[in-house]
Amino acid sequence: MALKDYIRSRQELVDSYLKEYFSNEFLPARLYESVTYSLFAGGKRIRPVLAIASYEACGGKAEDILPQASAIELIHTYSLIHDDLPAMDDDAMRRGKPTNHKVFGEAIAILAGDALLTEAFVMFTEGETFPPGAVKKAIRILADAAGPRGMVGGQAEDILSERKAPDPKTVHFIHTHKTGALICASVKIAPVLAGLPCEVVDGIGTYGEKIGLAFQIVDDILDVTGDAGALGKETGADVEKGKMTYPAIYGIERSRAAANELAKEALSAIDFMTDAADPLRWIAEYLVQRTM
Ligand code: IPE
Ligand code: IPE
Ligand code: MG
Ligand code: MG
Ligand code: MG
Repeated sequence: MALKDYIRSRQELVDSYLKEYFSNEFLPARLYESVTYSLFAGGKRIRPVLAIASYEACGGKAEDILPQASAIELIHTYSLIHDDLPAMDDDAMRRGKPTNHKVFGEAIAILAGDALLTEAFVMFTEGETFPPGAVKKAIRILADAAGPRGMVGGQAEDILSERKAPDPKTVHFIHTHKTGALICASVKIAPVLAGLPCEVVDGIGTYGEKIGLAFQIVDDILDVTGDAGALGKETGADVEKGKMTYPAIYGIERSRAAANELAKEALSAIDFMTDAADPLRWIAEYLVQRTM
């Protein structure tokens, strides 16, 4: 219950920040509609919630990191719009609604993604409660995680590996990059913005790496065992496309065991933190048990 209340209250903070930020329409209206269609379609907001939980664990206040936490959701939403395009995963449902390109066409969907990615860095510079130099360091962490050495690299390998013989090293690369990197950055920017020492950044960074990989393993498992209605996206798509996934290589049981083990390792990485890090601990457990 504490976990549910925690997640819900932080999701609400993020949603109202995003609503307010995007209350000023931009032109063309069709681009604005496309951007807000996907952004407010009902995502779990797990990355901004993680950023907030991490900042609170570091002694900060949720309100103070809302622009930076919400900026990560913009990058994530862009990645989903592009991931669903016909040239990539060619999916028809996302967040319980028709995918962006199905509604607005491919050109506007691509541009909505571009808009979200660039606007994320505008949003990130909002607020001014951080020590000198901290925002620059945090932006570097986020841009590295989203770019060619992170998510974009992982997405490229994911596409290049379709229908290839499954291989543990490649699937590890894909998952840690396409999904793990942005989740890791979500928690890692918090101690940086709080001006905490390297040991704390590294401990939280290890937690982020572990839950980031676990998150994608669970996403793969849910594509096999999950309910499309609850997930808000089609299931069975990975097998159909010959995606290199954990279940394809290890089967469901071993994949589940791997995710659980990673959650345990995530918890030990933040052993040194106080009770203020409890929400991070709850979220690690929730992420491997989730059904949506
Ligand atoms: C889906 O992410 C894409 C992956 C990286 C696995 P989420 O499961 O966080 O999707 P939303 O934001 O809740 O829609
Ligand atoms: C997507 O991975 C990771 C991204 C960076 C968007 P998937 O292709 O497995 O995500 P879903 O299953 O479509 O949400
Ligand atoms: Mg994909
Ligand atoms: Mg996909
Ligand atoms: Mg998937």
